[in-house]
Amino acid sequence: MYRVGILTSGGDCQGLNAVIRAVAKSLYEEFDDKVEIYGIRNGYAGLIDGEIHKMSKSDFSGILTLGGTILGTSRRPFKMMRVIDDVTGIDKVKNMKSNYKKFGLDCIVVLGGNGTHKSAHMLSEEGLNVVSLPKTIDNDVWGTDITFGFQSACDIAVNVIDCIHTTATSHGRIFIVEVMGHKVGWLTLNAGIAGGADIILIPEIPYNIEKVAAVINKRESEGKSFSILAVAEGAISDKDAALKKKELKALRATQHYPSAAYRVADELSEYISNEIRVTVPGHFQRGGSPCAYDRVLCTRLGAAAARLIKEKHFGCMVGMINGRTVPVPLFEVAGKLKTVPLDSPLIRDAKDLGISFGD
Ligand code: F6P
Repeated sequence: MYRVGILTSGGDCQGLNAVIRAVAKSLYEEFDDKVEIYGIRNGYAGLIDGEIHKMSKSDFSGILTLGGTILGTSRRPFKMMRVIDDVTGIDKVKNMKSNYKKFGLDCIVVLGGNGTHKSAHMLSEEGLNVVSLPKTIDNDVWGTDITFGFQSACDIAVNVIDCIHTTATSHGRIFIVEVMGHKVGWLTLNAGIAGGADIILIPEIPYNIEKVAAVINKRESEGKSFSILAVAEGAISDKDAALKKKELKALRATQHYPSAAYRVADELSEYISNEIRVTVPGHFQRGGSPCAYDRVLCTRLGAAAARLIKEKHFGCMVGMINGRTVPVPLFEVAGKLKTVPLDSPLIRDAKDLGISFGD
């Protein structure tokens, strides 16, 4: 009997259960039912603490559309993985290796984002057989064109911008919609374009607040009294981007803005007279069912993972590149961030339409 462990790690997103289902169903097919699947609770925490249970076929039924993760998840910072716990004296890496052995696992399937992949790579180097899958609404995992969760979150962010549009036009107000995405602008860029935002601010392109204000004032002079700004949670002004890391940290500590959108609103208020409102959908963007695109993506990634396991092809992540699932070595993925390239055709096309990036 072949034994496969599966865990979901880091922030949740839509599609985790759809991937779990796809991996399991495909494994049962690939191994002609001669496979046992073990659910590892709450990400790496479950592997460390031995919270591992045998799952049955029925556990994987009816979960394609279910949001969140049936396995639970947690954030386990990679930099702490090799640090021995002060209080318990637990050696996390040693525990993960011994639990892998204790439960007789032949490999583990890891669903996660950037932090998760660093740990997946480390475990692979420690001798565990690992296959990973790229999860995150941020779409910032290296080695894949797209991560699952991204399109579903994008749909939600677009829905928010659509709803804001009607109230913004009615009142003639400036609305700042803050979009998640951590340190990258994929979600904001796509949601902003799809939602018809007039200004899109992403971390990759530091904005100049006077230029942003000039766009709003120009629209006003053309009879458009409302403007929509899609602002990434990691958006940064050109002035702040010029600061050293320490200086920026010290500045932020004095500012007390709840998040980026409030900071942009405050900065803008010095240059425009319009009423400004802020909307922060936050974790709403990670909730609910995966969209159709993600369901297909999750199914394909899961099926590919099962094939790799059957072929004993480990130490890799299943990436989606040019519409094909491909194994990407974990050493290539770990520790890298996929940011929006400045020469992205998406940015060029948006600019051609007159969308401002505040640069
Ligand atoms: O990585 C996904 C993400 O939702 C980011 O967009 C966001 O910055 C972060 O997670 C929020 O983390 P948490 O759920 O721990 O608050």
